[in-house]
Amino acid sequence: MREGRYEGSASRANFKIEAIDFSYFYGELRALKKINLRVRKNSLVTIMGPTGSGKTTFLRALNRLNDLVDNSSHSGKLLLDGEDVYAKGTDVGALRRKVGMVFALPTPLPMTIFENVAYGPRKKGVSSRAALEELVERSLKAAALWDEVKDRLDMPARQLSGGQQQRLALARVLAVEPEVILLDEPTSGLDPISTLRIEELMNQLKRSYTIIFVTHNPQQAARLQGEVAFFYLGELVEFGPAAEVFTRPRDKRTEDYITGKVG
Ligand SMILES: Nc1ncnc2c1ncn2[C@@H]1O[C@H](COP(=O)(O)OP(=O)(O)OP(=O)(O)O)[C@@H](O)[C@H]1O
Ligand SMILES: [Mg+2]
Repeated sequence: MREGRYEGSASRANFKIEAIDFSYFYGELRALKKINLRVRKNSLVTIMGPTGSGKTTFLRALNRLNDLVDNSSHSGKLLLDGEDVYAKGTDVGALRRKVGMVFALPTPLPMTIFENVAYGPRKKGVSSRAALEELVERSLKAAALWDEVKDRLDMPARQLSGGQQQRLALARVLAVEPEVILLDEPTSGLDPISTLRIEELMNQLKRSYTIIFVTHNPQQAARLQGEVAFFYLGELVEFGPAAEVFTRPRDKRTEDYITGKVG
């Protein structure tokens, strides 16, 4: 028994994110219904599901971007490193530095490539030129963009292609040294080649970060190696390793979705 208990607490410590009966409401609308989901440290979870299933709501709850929505509320718990992100004492600024987010449409700031990446670290208080240069280079390398831009870091970032801008958005997130990266349909505006590059990058980055990747595309969820959560009408219908969910879905709704009958 004692062994079981030790094992229990050890494995619990490995969960970076834990939703326990977590519901989210916009006024009367319950956008998330008692979600129970655990994300291991340094792993990749893909959330797939049709439009309106609550995918974005879940991500925006995790870094409390939804706080800005009037009349929204939650019940249940959402834990990051075992601490409730909705606890009274939560430092929301610190939470958002720890939990970075990449959106569907990259929106670089109207400044150079270098300044876009240096912006977050500067705000955090990094001021030495050498330290910023090192961080910018490291972040652009980690986002697989360095080779394409290293000779033109002073170019306006908005002159980059869409695929490059999306990797720049990722570099900007990495530059503030987050622990969790949330990506909300980051490839929806990209061509197949740029999409594959982002997907490959995810499989590398998951060694050092905990990643939640949202897509409405089941093929993409199947390509990303990791675990898959299927959201449907605000419910977590199915959760498991991608290989299992796609070959032996347990729920009829998952099967219909991955075979293209819903969504
Ligand atoms: N700011 C808001 N105010 C009111 N209702 C909202 C708000 N944002 C989302 N909703 C509602 O919550 C539900 C879930 O929306 P959400 O954006 O989380 O879905 P999604 O799975 O991300 O969809 P999509 O694939 O279209 O991005 C929807 O019914 C939506 O209309
Ligand atoms: Mg969404």
